[in-house]
Amino acid sequence: MLVNVLKIFGLLVLILVLVSGWIFYTQVYNYERFPLKVDKTRFPGVNTEAEIDQLAESLLGQMTMDEKIEQLYGEEGSSLLKLAVNLFVLKRFPHMYIAANERLGIPPFVLSDGPRGARVADVYGGATVFPVAMSRGASWDVDLEARVNDVIAREIRAIGANMAATPCINLLRHPGWGRAQETYGEDPWHLGQFGVAATEAIQKHNVMASPKHYALNSIENSRFVVNVELDERTLREVYLPHFKKVVQEGDTATLMSAYNMALGEYVSNNRYLLTDVLRNDWGFEGFVHSDWFFAMYDPVASIKAGLNIEMPLSKVYNKKDIKAALESGEITEEDIDQLILPALKTRLKYAFAQDSIEYDEALLASPEHIELAREAAEKGMVLLKNDDVLPLSPGGGNKIAVIGRLADVENTGDHGSSNAKSPYVISPYHGLANYHAGSGNTVVLDDGSDLDRAREVARDADQVVVVVGYTFEDEGEYLISTENMKKSAEAGRLIGEKGTGGDREDLSLVKADRELIHALADANEKLVVVYVGGSGIDMSDWDHKVPAILFAWYAGMEGGTALARVLYGDVNPSGKLPFAMAQDAADYPYFTPYTDNITYDYYHGYTLFDKSNIEVAYPFGFGMSYTSFGYDNLQVLTPQLDPDGTLLVEVDVSNVGGMAGEEVVQMYVGFANSAVDRPVKLLRAFEKVALQPGETRTVSLEVPVEELAWYNPEAREWQTETISYAVYVGGSSAERDLLTGGFAVQ
Ligand code: BGC
Repeated sequence: MLVNVLKIFGLLVLILVLVSGWIFYTQVYNYERFPLKVDKTRFPGVNTEAEIDQLAESLLGQMTMDEKIEQLYGEEGSSLLKLAVNLFVLKRFPHMYIAANERLGIPPFVLSDGPRGARVADVYGGATVFPVAMSRGASWDVDLEARVNDVIAREIRAIGANMAATPCINLLRHPGWGRAQETYGEDPWHLGQFGVAATEAIQKHNVMASPKHYALNSIENSRFVVNVELDERTLREVYLPHFKKVVQEGDTATLMSAYNMALGEYVSNNRYLLTDVLRNDWGFEGFVHSDWFFAMYDPVASIKAGLNIEMPLSKVYNKKDIKAALESGEITEEDIDQLILPALKTRLKYAFAQDSIEYDEALLASPEHIELAREAAEKGMVLLKNDDVLPLSPGGGNKIAVIGRLADVENTGDHGSSNAKSPYVISPYHGLANYHAGSGNTVVLDDGSDLDRAREVARDADQVVVVVGYTFEDEGEYLISTENMKKSAEAGRLIGEKGTGGDREDLSLVKADRELIHALADANEKLVVVYVGGSGIDMSDWDHKVPAILFAWYAGMEGGTALARVLYGDVNPSGKLPFAMAQDAADYPYFTPYTDNITYDYYHGYTLFDKSNIEVAYPFGFGMSYTSFGYDNLQVLTPQLDPDGTLLVEVDVSNVGGMAGEEVVQMYVGFANSAVDRPVKLLRAFEKVALQPGETRTVSLEVPVEELAWYNPEAREWQTETISYAVYVGGSSAERDLLTGGFAVQ
């Protein structure tokens, strides 16, 4: 009897193990995949955009209420297991199939993160990992940004996704922001140009772009709770113009909403941002999806506000609560239809779109893509100081010391959602070692942990490169346990658990790096400091002691190769800071990682320093080259303009040094005669030009006058002043680097 019971029990256990194994294998490990394109045979005669719009309306009309609600969120809650096991155990990003309807033939969409490369599962062997967006912002090369995003989009398609959670265009208000590396810089104009370039390039591959995080997400640790207060003018002129651009110029399919609160309400509940500004003022016709897990709180408020889709699971948008709200009359079926329709129209356009190429896995980290990762890394590096040390001489017989904790670390940036994995990463040391292979030079590595030993190595070397800065531990997306995130969100405040990444409270380098720089600078007067990180730092403690400083950023999978080529002059550095660096950290706007309330003022970055006459350590737009550029003959071709005209200027830029190089020509407009308080100047155009030694090029720059308008909060409209303006053109935002002209608008 007992034996039989045991046998049956054993059999049951076996069946249970097999069934759960099968479920695990099919649903979690090797989860089912679905096509993302429509089966056109189901919809004969639907070809044009207008026909697709009509189809969306007809499909909506055929949906049951349950089916309608299913259009409003990601996968059902049961997929939490799939997500958790893939992310935390298998360390890969699973596909979440959102808002499909098999009965009606509506395919799902699938998102992949992608600020520095397709967030690809290891199973595919890795993707191309580019330098972080801040490095690309520092290149000031929007064509390059388009090429980079073209590759990211191709690779996103190759892994079977059709929505890219990129570009991140939140404004860098303070250098301590943990996710600074994911965005392009501090200036709304510059952010807008990069955001549009990325969005357009991504969408060419029938991937829906998702500029993020709309809006005001410029603090990391408090992102789930912080309420941002600001006045209407600051919102419109400083924190939103780049979002407006990706909507109106980039024609973005979607936007990702931010976690934080704005003006006393979670963004996900904020009708002003999601409907009044976005749809009514800007004419957005795509859809808004929430940031993941902790962005939404109240289904009724979000439905009324206009948040189309909750990601990545059904949580706040769920059948029970939505049906209850319908029953109580808090919302109507029309409210729901209004959320579904723009999303469905947009998604169907992408699902119908014909691809011009095949996106197979061979695209991932292909040789051409990797080549572009190297080029991008080279073009983003910013030379901040060079007292005749760089470029280093490649001649034979030299002993080259590469020193520092980060000298031989695979360090491509944060380990949060922007983390993408490449088949390999070339560290700074490896880049230099490869560069010198077979040259007769010796490259030695020292981790800098023993200052006396490092000093000896430096003394003994002909060339010394120290690599300092940060890793994902120090800055990036703030990762705390899910449990604690939840508690934090529920408590409406932050809990004090130490996580990984997050904001930087102290802008100086870590003590070990500072001590190392001092020690090495004493030992070798030709010390080259290479900084790896995602944003501005305070160098006041040591920059006067060293002859050369190069900002290399998190330079991607080919960062080490690019670094060697820049240090030895195979590539002339051409990056410029996309933010201003203060002399004193106290000069920046107030910032704290731990707060549930903060005010964003009208001035930050170079506009703040200009306005308050604060001298900076390194200006916005500044970066050196191994050659020199001269600016002459600034001509304002349109000295008198109508409010609907376009300012046109020309300037002669010459390479007056001995090496070919690239220069970022910048144009700022000044408002000294304005009747209202305005910045001293604002960036309004830039152009990167390549010049041979001795070559002079006439560079044309232009901006429509309407881009000089200010937002009058009383009249609730943009107004162009009919006054005289100044125009400044040169190689950085510093007064000493700019030629001045003028024009009037009448
Ligand atoms: C991040 C987003 C990201 C999403 C999906 C969130 O935590 O804030 O930027 O796209 O995760 O990975």
